Amino acid sequence: MVKSDIVVGLDIGTTKICMVLGEATANDGIIIHGIGHSSSTGMRKGMVVSIDNTARDIHHALAEAELMAGREIRSVYVGIAGSHISSFNSEGAVRISGDAVTGRDIERALETAGAKAIPQDREIIHTLPQEYIVDEQGDISDPLGMAGVRLEVKVHIVTGAVASAQNIVRACQRSGLSVEDIVLESLASSKAVLTDEERELGVILVDLGGGTSDIALFVNNAIKHTSVISLGGQYVTKDIAHGLRTPVDRAEELKLKYSCAMVDMVLPDEFIEVPEVGDRSPRRLSRRMLAEICQARMEEILAMVNQDLIKSGYKNQAVAGVVLTGGGSMIAGCQELSEQIFELPARIGYPRNLGGLKNVAASPDCATAVGLLCYGVEKEAAEGRSGRKIDFNNPQKDFSLGEILSRFKKWFTDVR
Ligand SMILES: Nc1ncnc2c1ncn2[C@@H]1O[C@H](COP(=O)(O)OP(=O)(O)OP(=O)(O)O)[C@@H](O)[C@H]1O
Ligand SMILES: [Mg+2]
Repeated sequence: MVKSDIVVGLDIGTTKICMVLGEATANDGIIIHGIGHSSSTGMRKGMVVSIDNTARDIHHALAEAELMAGREIRSVYVGIAGSHISSFNSEGAVRISGDAVTGRDIERALETAGAKAIPQDREIIHTLPQEYIVDEQGDISDPLGMAGVRLEVKVHIVTGAVASAQNIVRACQRSGLSVEDIVLESLASSKAVLTDEERELGVILVDLGGGTSDIALFVNNAIKHTSVISLGGQYVTKDIAHGLRTPVDRAEELKLKYSCAMVDMVLPDEFIEVPEVGDRSPRRLSRRMLAEICQARMEEILAMVNQDLIKSGYKNQAVAGVVLTGGGSMIAGCQELSEQIFELPARIGYPRNLGGLKNVAASPDCATAVGLLCYGVEKEAAEGRSGRKIDFNNPQKDFSLGEILSRFKKWFTDVR
């Protein structure tokens, strides 16, 4: 069978499922052929809590995407997030086998960097090279063919709970889909919204979702820090429902229509109609009151992100500032509030370099799905050239992540 060039990204979010299919263009862009959405009813804080519900929701998004693109979808690149994700920096070193560094030497160096004691119930999701050192010379991004005796590598390792990944795979399989790869959601989003210059200079990506806020920090084109915080836009909605005594679905509507994360941006004479619980007639309230509730929760979320970044020790290297994406970043005033809290320039990140049906996918809440598609496109292009697995962060490198292959055995063998 001829392998299709179509790649599909599937973002199983806490509040929505988004499936995007597309293919690469000659000039490093992506043509979007179709998109499918569904609300998400089987997820909590970025993790599957009901396989049945999630499978049904995926199926809904799948039918929509297939209809729009006019083709059948069989396999997907899927995202992973949630509080079970943890990451750390590590290093490994090997003696170079011949006169110059080979792909196998790089592979062995990466294996030693990843050979850390990881509990039985966890697995490595990504081993992301940051820098290679050949003898005393550091800051090497591609050591292949370089002369030397000793090869060292610094990496960022992301691990996750095996059970969480297996639940994602099960939900996909139950919708008739096989999983090509599992990718950290913040890495995927960064792929869709960051520019090469930002990644080179140093940048912080914050994906504000419904149930989680995902962080990824890049310096010198390498990922230095990733983190997942179990708070997101759903909490803003819950606060509005409690604070204004209105049903949750109405609170969500009010948030989408009138909310603002900066009270000072709302005029004192702006009023909104708030539906009451039960049969009582709606109340008229100051829009500033709604903004106060939103600002308080958004401040809390962004302050937690800021604390996490300060603790990582890399925040001051993010010269290009902060890029906010995800549905939670679409609240008015988010950029301004972020600049205050992070004390860095901030912008809202929209998926970039898209063609075809780009308007349907160029929204911050599609960043993860589009990023998963970009990941798949890069990976398949590199595999086509070398026939080997590649690393997300370094698609041009000539090495295979044997670990990833064995990880996949573990992900899939137990899934029936
Ligand atoms: N225009 C908007 N204004 C304010 N909030 C918005 C807007 N659009 C979407 N949101 C909020 O964004 C959140 C959903 O974002 P997103 O779709 O990125 O999350 P998700 O991927 O489902 O969840 P997660 O990534 O946490 O698993 C919801 O809380 C939603 O209310
Ligand atoms: Mg998300």
